[in-house]
Parts: sequence; structure tokens; C-alpha cells
Amino acid sequence: MKIGILGTGPVGTALGTGFIKTGHQVMLGARSADNANAAAWKAENGADASSGTFADAAAFGELVVVAVKGDALAAAIGAAGVGNFAGKTVIDTVNPLDFSKGYPDLSIKGNDSAGETLQRLLPGAHVVKAFNTVTSSLMFRPDLPGGPPDMMIAGDDADAKAAVTAILADFGWPTIDLGNLYAARWLEAFVMTWVLACQARGDWRQAFKLLHA
Ligand SMILES: NC(=O)c1ccc[n+]([C@@H]2O[C@H](COP(=O)([O-])OP(=O)(O)OC[C@H]3O[C@@H](n4cnc5c(N)ncnc54)[C@H](OP(=O)(O)O)[C@@H]3O)[C@@H](O)[C@H]2O)c1
Repeated sequence: MKIGILGTGPVGTALGTGFIKTGHQVMLGARSADNANAAAWKAENGADASSGTFADAAAFGELVVVAVKGDALAAAIGAAGVGNFAGKTVIDTVNPLDFSKGYPDLSIKGNDSAGETLQRLLPGAHVVKAFNTVTSSLMFRPDLPGGPPDMMIAGDDADAKAAVTAILADFGWPTIDLGNLYAARWLEAFVMTWVLACQARGDWRQAFKLLHA
């Protein structure tokens, strides 16, 4: 499948490499077509890797991943062009993090979330919140001593969630479906638990698993 990724940071590049390793063609998008991170990633990932602007990547992808800085969400989607997402599954990895107060907080919270904000920006697309509760280096086939962690997702469209669940299986993740996209507000709030636990341990390479009776 053709995958467009908006974002050239640790998440965009890690997921991009994961998609290439599982047989997809990937275009990374940035504010400018000559982004240095995208060029380095492309050089490491062979013929199925390409790069362009946010709009190029959104148009290229049959499925689109949004992996931009939380406070840049609306700007990145505006640059990508809302029409380029019509009818597509969109994986939302964004956390609206706010470190300005000296402790980790969310700039969107309470009765809203970045996931719901993205869905309002893209009414013709099917947003699925995923990958936001784990560090980028564990996103593809996490190898942890306690076994595979769980990926919690949320979204309003069953077919889009089925597509993301299949991708997650390829990426080495069992999926827990939390239901409608409103649950993105709890997935994003949950990230605060993850950030504080990682800060306490001094290591970001940890992930959540639900233990069942
Ligand atoms: N890092 C992690 O382990 C991790 C884990 C889970 C979730 N997340 C979330 O995933 C998202 C991506 O995180 P990241 O760590 O890969 O990188 P990031 O530094 O949060 O975001 C990088 C991307 O944001 C874009 N960007 C920055 N300012 C912008 C602006 N003013 N207008 C438009 N675009 C702008 C950059 O565009 P250019 O390419 O043009 O520079 C770049 O592509 C974030 O929302 C983060 O909270 C991160």
C-alpha cells in the first residue's frame, strides 16, 4: 500500500521504516520538500522511500499518518490540503504536549483531544488514534523482556480500525480497541502517566500491557 506520513521527526521516520520493512511504499512529508531529516531517512530506506511536502505525502498516501508537533496540527493539515485526505484512513500519533509550566501537561484536554480536533479538521477522513502511548524506538516490533506490550486505539470507523489493527499486527502489536474517537482524550491523558513514569525511571523504553484474568 502507499503510505503518506506527515512528519519527519522520530515518529515519522520510525513508522516510515516499519512500513517499508513490511512491504509498503512510503512518502515522508515536511514543510519543505528539501527537509534534511527526510533526505537522510530516504537514503537509508531504499527505492520504496520518497519524500516531499505535507501536501505531496497526503496526496500520495492511500493511508496517511499524522506525526507532527501537537501545536502544529492545524498548520500542517492546512498545508497538506484537506481534500488530499478524503475517504482515507488517517493514523493520528499526535500528543498535544505542553511543557511550558515546568511539568508535562496537555494543551488540549478535558472535553476535547488532538484526535477529535484532527477529525474535525478532516471530516471526510477516518481518524484512528494509535501509537501515541509509546516511544518511537519501540513502535516497530517492540522487543521487551515482558513480551509484546498492547497498543490502545480509538476511532469512529470500524473499517479504518480494522486496517490499523492489521498494520499493528504486522508491527508486532496486539490491539486493544477503546471504542469511539472520544476515547482519544483518555489516550492522550494517559500519555502523562507514561511521561512521568519514563522520567522517574530515566528511560523511555517502556510500554503498557494489560494483564487479563
Ligand atoms: N517522539 C516520540 O517518541 C513520540 C511518541 C508518541 C507520540 N509522539 C507524538 O507524535 C508527534 C510527532 O512527534 P516527533 O517526536 O516525531 O516529532 P515532533 O518534533 O513533535 O514533530 C516533528 C514534525 O512537526 C512538524 N512541525 C513542527 N513545527 C511545525 C509548524 N510550525 N508547522 C507545521 N509543522 C511543524 C515538523 O515539520 P518539518 O518536517 O517541516 O520540520 C516535523 O515534521 C508529536 O505530536 C508527538 O507528541 C511522539
